[in-house]
Amino acid sequence: MKPKFVALLCLFSFCSAADTVGYRGDILYFKGDPANDSEATVYIKDGYLIVKDGRVVKSGDYISLKDQPVDNTVDYSGKIITAGFVDTHVHYPQITMISEYGEQLIGWLNTYTFPTEIKYKNHHYASQEAAEFLDQLINNGTTTALVFATSSPVSVDAFFEQALKRNMRMISGKVLMDRNAPAELLDTPQSAYEESKLLIEKWQHKGRLDYAVTPRFAPTSTDQELAVAGRLLKEYPDVYLHTHLAENNQEVEWVKQLFPQSRSYLDVYDKHGLVTKKSIFAHSIHLNDDDFRVLSEKNANIAFCPTSNLFLGSGLFNLDKSREYHIPVGLGTDVGAGTSLSVIQTMDEAYKVTQMRKAFTDKPEEVHSLTPRENLYLATLGGATVLSLQDKIGSLTPGKEADFVVLDPLAGPILSERNKQAKNIDEILFGMEMLGDDRIVAHTYVMGKKMK
Ligand code: GUN
Ligand code: ZN
Repeated sequence: MKPKFVALLCLFSFCSAADTVGYRGDILYFKGDPANDSEATVYIKDGYLIVKDGRVVKSGDYISLKDQPVDNTVDYSGKIITAGFVDTHVHYPQITMISEYGEQLIGWLNTYTFPTEIKYKNHHYASQEAAEFLDQLINNGTTTALVFATSSPVSVDAFFEQALKRNMRMISGKVLMDRNAPAELLDTPQSAYEESKLLIEKWQHKGRLDYAVTPRFAPTSTDQELAVAGRLLKEYPDVYLHTHLAENNQEVEWVKQLFPQSRSYLDVYDKHGLVTKKSIFAHSIHLNDDDFRVLSEKNANIAFCPTSNLFLGSGLFNLDKSREYHIPVGLGTDVGAGTSLSVIQTMDEAYKVTQMRKAFTDKPEEVHSLTPRENLYLATLGGATVLSLQDKIGSLTPGKEADFVVLDPLAGPILSERNKQAKNIDEILFGMEMLGDDRIVAHTYVMGKKMK
């Protein structure tokens, strides 16, 4: 059958997940980090991705694979097929309060964030917002995310129910916070422990879901509550730890006053056993060398959230330093402090942060500007590595879960004009990263199912 005709059939949902489907297009993904491995990129002009039962069976060049048995071929010639994007730090309850004016971190939390999060005790409201959030992730090509809910267990149930319905690989958890916020949001060490335990038992490993113990940040938890977080990690060694770290100077000073016995902000977490290979620390901007060393020794991970860091005026993350210490880094949109759910727009700002660092150093030649490939790696396999999911998602090798996106390098008038002149894949990719948004995401597939 002619590929175009089959594509039409699939459009009208005649393709089922059990079918073997071949997708023709330009394939791009990574086998490793292109920052330290020149062979890490796989780019196949006119490639073929074969998917069955939600998994990648094969990927390679179309001419060599075209005689493989498939039930259908979908023709995406001229488009780029890559792994679904991974958002390593985002808050689903904050989509309604994205881009609120005029505050930095602490003022922004008190003025806008906390009042918004109180609403998520209502299951109906939380479900409606979780559904909208997940649909917008799909629209933006994001297939996996590490997600803050609120301190209400209702918000976690609502989120996981919606994620399960869509069969999306999602990680979330109840926020732990027992001080320095409105009473309606506070738990206690006891309730934090009991509620988290129930949620872990209910959701961990259900479908494609995983649980993250989620203390909001050191200022909103007492030592007793951070000890509870440590206890949960000991009782459930495969759950994640997700929190914020050293985002803003005023916050760092506050942590010094609240925890005078700790060497640093990171040390507050470390004292409670919260720095592990399954820990993800959002921001990590204002750290010293000892902190980088501890993160590295414990194989912990960082979520770099450039749109948020610029919006709240938090600072410029030092990607070079995390590379020097071999700390895995992924991209986080951090909505609502971040200004877009698009990981593509996040790549744009990530590049600009590396550019700005050059402007604020005595040794600009030592600051490395993110290359287009390194940036896409952060958005895909790099993010998957941060979440210990590099064997399941993040690239298009055989056996991987078929979470992928089809990108249109000619979407929109400006990008289209620009990319028609581009001489190679790096130029095309850079154009998409700097100028793209949800309009370049032509299609999003979750476990082989077309969702956009
Ligand atoms: N630190 C503590 N809570 C938050 C939050 O909701 N967003 C950001 N960006 N930082 C935080
Ligand atoms: Zn955040």
